[in-house]
Amino acid sequence: MLKEHYFDPNYQYTSKILKNYLKTQEGFKKKICMDMPSGNGRNIFLLALHFEHVYGVDISQKYLDEIENYKSVYQVFNITTSILDVTKNTPITLSSADFICISHFYDFTFLHKVKLSIKVGAKIYVETPSCRGGNYFELPSKTELEAFLSGFKIIFYKNNVCNSDNRLNKSISFTAILEKKINGSK
Ligand SMILES: C[S@@+](CC[C@H](N)C(=O)[O-])C[C@H]1O[C@@H](n2cnc3c(N)ncnc32)[C@H](O)[C@@H]1O
Repeated sequence: MLKEHYFDPNYQYTSKILKNYLKTQEGFKKKICMDMPSGNGRNIFLLALHFEHVYGVDISQKYLDEIENYKSVYQVFNITTSILDVTKNTPITLSSADFICISHFYDFTFLHKVKLSIKVGAKIYVETPSCRGGNYFELPSKTELEAFLSGFKIIFYKNNVCNSDNRLNKSISFTAILEKKINGSK
C-alpha cells in the first residue's frame, strides 16, 4: 500500500475536491455515508467530521483494525467498519446511504452495482486510480464511462485520458461528484 493510503490525521492526502465539496454541504450532518473500500481510513475520518455516521467496508481486516484503533485514539465514534468483498457483496447500508465515497478503487461491474443499489438523490464521489503504471488496463473506456455516467446529474467532473500504447479505445482516469437522478433496472 502506498504512503498516501495510510491514515492521515491532517487530511493532507485527501482530495481537495472532496474536502472543498464537503465544506459546502451543511445538510450532511444528519446524513449517512459509505466509504467503500475504506482502506485504513484516509478519507473515513474526514467523512466522519461531516456526516452523522460513516460505514466503511474493505476486504482487508488489517486496514479495518487500523481504523478501529484510531477511533479511540482520536475519539471519533461515528464510524462502523466491516469486512466485505465489494466485488461479490453489496453492503446492507448502501441502499440507505446519502453519500458514497469510492476512492482509488476501480472495477466497472462494482461501480454499476453501486449505481443500481443506491437511492435516487444519493450522491457519489468517485476518484479512480490515475493513469500511472499499468492502472490504465483497469480504468474504463469512453463507452463504459458514458454508460456509468448516464442517469446521474453531474455536480463535478474532471478526467485524464490515458495515453497508453496503441489501444484503440483509450481508458479514462476520472474524479466525479454525481447525484442519482433515476432508477435503473437491475
Ligand atoms: C488503493 S486502496 C484505496 C483505499 C481508500 N479508498 C483510499 O482512498 O485511501 C484500495 C483498497 O481496496 C481494498 N480492496 C481491494 N479489493 C477489494 C475488494 N474486492 N473488496 C473490498 N475491498 C477491496 C484494499 O484492501 C485497499 O484497502
